[in-house]
Amino acid sequence: MILDAADLHYAYPGGVEALAGLDLRVAKGSRLAILGPNGAGKTTLLLHLNGTLKPSQGSIALDGKPVAYDRKGLTDWRRRVGLVLQDPDDQLFAATVKADVSFGPLNLDLPTDEVRTRVEWALDALRISDLADRPTHMLSFGQKKRAAIAGAAAMAPEVLLLDEPAAGLDAHGEAHLLSVLKRLAESGTTLVFTTHDVDLAWGFADQVALFKGGKVLAQGETGTLLADADLLRRARLKRPWAAAIGQAARAAGKLAADAPLPKDRDQALALLQAMGG
Ligand SMILES: Nc1ncnc2c1ncn2[C@@H]1O[C@H](COP(=O)(O)OP(=O)(O)OP(=O)(O)O)[C@@H](O)[C@H]1O
Ligand SMILES: [Mg+2]
Repeated sequence: MILDAADLHYAYPGGVEALAGLDLRVAKGSRLAILGPNGAGKTTLLLHLNGTLKPSQGSIALDGKPVAYDRKGLTDWRRRVGLVLQDPDDQLFAATVKADVSFGPLNLDLPTDEVRTRVEWALDALRISDLADRPTHMLSFGQKKRAAIAGAAAMAPEVLLLDEPAAGLDAHGEAHLLSVLKRLAESGTTLVFTTHDVDLAWGFADQVALFKGGKVLAQGETGTLLADADLLRRARLKRPWAAAIGQAARAAGKLAADAPLPKDRDQALALLQAMGG
């Protein structure tokens, strides 16, 4: 486990209990989607996973070692675990896109060449090289979102936490973001992201955690949990449509019980075509 949160409790000033004994385990190299209704505690949990918030009870371990909340501990933690906030306006602060993306790597005391390479890579990966010299406050929402993700990716963290990374992106932007995240995952980065989109989680995540009322209702393999009608009902989530098509095909005897369910549009369409033929 790269991150292990056990029995986390947290109440915001004013008394709202946001985490109520939450357990979450993040395996190294996994792509974990966090799903759950508004107010379930998803953002609050991410803020705990990089030390922005400290639980009133419970513990967090990073790579098997308990985290430390002193200055050195937090610096080391945030270097290894990056966080992309839901609202890019809360994250971007430098005058230009390039300055913003460079800020983190510059503070890692890396050689200048290495900083330049990382920043160029991140700008290119998020396809915002052409925006490098633009003021961050003059970008569209989706462009700001990409700039914020580029800044976190340029730090090359072991774990990247993303709060609603796809929300507000157009279809092309979302597909592109997922391909970038896939590349990061393939190069060994562990991904933890929140989303309200069960179809995105179904197609992209290998693990899901279903949040409800400040707790994890269930955590496990995406293919098992998001195909479990009873669990989805309890978590108040819709069934991913590709899973629904696959299960309907199974019920009609057109897909073997042990054959995998389609993961995305192309696979679902291929299945429908095969059924028609
Ligand atoms: N700054 C804050 N001060 C007080 N209460 C807060 C604050 N931020 C969140 N809360 C409360 O904590 C609970 C958990 O909120 P959180 O933002 O973690 O939910 P979420 O699962 O991320 O929801 P969403 O899907 O809407 O983003 C909610 O009841 C919310 O009202
Ligand atoms: Mg949230």
